[in-house]
Amino acid sequence: MSLADKDRIFTNVYGFQPWGLKAAMGRGDWDGTKKLMQIGQDAIIDKVKASGLRGRGGAGFPTGMKWSFMPKEPRADRPNFLVINADESEPGSCKDREIIRHDPHKLIEGALIAGFAMRARAAYIYIRGEYIREAETLFAAVAEAYAAGLIGKNACKSGYDFDVFVHRGAGAYICGEETAMLESLEGKKGQPRLKPPFPAGAGLYGCPTTVNNVESIAVVPTILRRSPEWFASFGRENNKGTKLFQISGHVNKPCVVEEEMSIPFSELIEKHCGGIRGGRDNLLAVIPGGSSVPLVPADQIWDAPMDFDGLRAVGSGLGTAAVIVMDKSTDIVQAIARISYFYKHESCGQCTPCREGTGWMWRVMERLRTGDADVSEIDTLFQVTKQVEGHTICALGDAAAWPIQGLIRHFRPELERRIAERQAGEGMQEAAE
Ligand SMILES: Cc1cc2nc3c(=O)[nH]c(=O)nc-3n(C[C@H](O)[C@H](O)[C@H](O)COP(=O)(O)O)c2cc1C
Ligand code: SF4
Repeated sequence: MSLADKDRIFTNVYGFQPWGLKAAMGRGDWDGTKKLMQIGQDAIIDKVKASGLRGRGGAGFPTGMKWSFMPKEPRADRPNFLVINADESEPGSCKDREIIRHDPHKLIEGALIAGFAMRARAAYIYIRGEYIREAETLFAAVAEAYAAGLIGKNACKSGYDFDVFVHRGAGAYICGEETAMLESLEGKKGQPRLKPPFPAGAGLYGCPTTVNNVESIAVVPTILRRSPEWFASFGRENNKGTKLFQISGHVNKPCVVEEEMSIPFSELIEKHCGGIRGGRDNLLAVIPGGSSVPLVPADQIWDAPMDFDGLRAVGSGLGTAAVIVMDKSTDIVQAIARISYFYKHESCGQCTPCREGTGWMWRVMERLRTGDADVSEIDTLFQVTKQVEGHTICALGDAAAWPIQGLIRHFRPELERRIAERQAGEGMQEAAE
């Protein structure tokens, strides 16, 4: 099982061809967009539902269903909006940037079609501040699309007016959370909102809004052109479509590759990454979905299907499909401690369990790293992760808790070994004195 070249959506993901409009049209983008729109707004939503597409931003919510929550008859003074999440700050994730760098017209055409289906007046693409060159490309591609009459007034001669705005962020991970993104777009501090109300009821400027990931939107034109059935022919039930995997770490050839959903981990690594550095036996563990998901030890990940259900079955998640591979040279406790530091640094500080908990968890992780702890603290740490998980305004709290839970679940003997080693070292020192 492997995705054939003819079935790839992102045919320019490596930038072998120019990103510009002419080359994009040569690859089939903007081909008969008006006709795609003419099937009607609800029919587009039905097709996206039938394709089985689930959000590619991490949570995997069914995209068509999300679109159907938007008001069908927006009020003139309360227009619908589409917000496209190009914040891509999850450690390990680097797929949306490849789309924007090399295939930006897929995203802009997708924005028009998705926006039209949801009766949106405009799309805002929120791109992380660090993506400077990508933002330049995106601004230029949007300008090209306006100049060619593909967006703006009477977009693609469809009779529908649709604007696309590009907004640059300032480098905060939390602005990737959908409601923090809306606050940031409104010019406020990027802090998540309490839900309800959900964005489809009251989102950007209090208007009905849907937030979608770049990849979720960019695949839509191809799904409509090639048919929902074609898209749904890839992957297992409930886990449909093709997917951009981003494999980093201790493989021979790290890469971003579009593959069929549900491809086994072993095949993804052997076929596209030249195998594990030092061979399969040298694999220690994998974080399969970006830093927010728990690690999976080597023996459990090897045959796992890389999809939402397959990774849940091994106690982790697909997340953004940012696959971080760690071989036996990795100091696994240090790796997770570093991730804990990231979440402590990025917590917006609004809710107490996250603000205090992320710092507390990181400090204990640092002591576990050096072995300067008591064995009982391992259980205390686990309990604290449980007190943070599910008790915060947004999922950053869960994201901080899960990697530590994964470490304790699978590498407890290593934590205990460090503590014992440290205590033995101290004992020897005392005896010598
Ligand atoms: C702390 C945090 C950071 C997030 N960062 C991103 C991000 O960078 N990109 C993204 O698409 N979704 C991110 N999300 C998920 C979004 O909140 C939202 O679920 C997603 O954009 C929805 O798009 P989708 O349905 O197309 O997946 C983040 C969520 C949290 C809690
Ligand atoms: S969970 Fe953390 S990041 Fe999210 S709102 Fe609360 S304090 Fe802010």
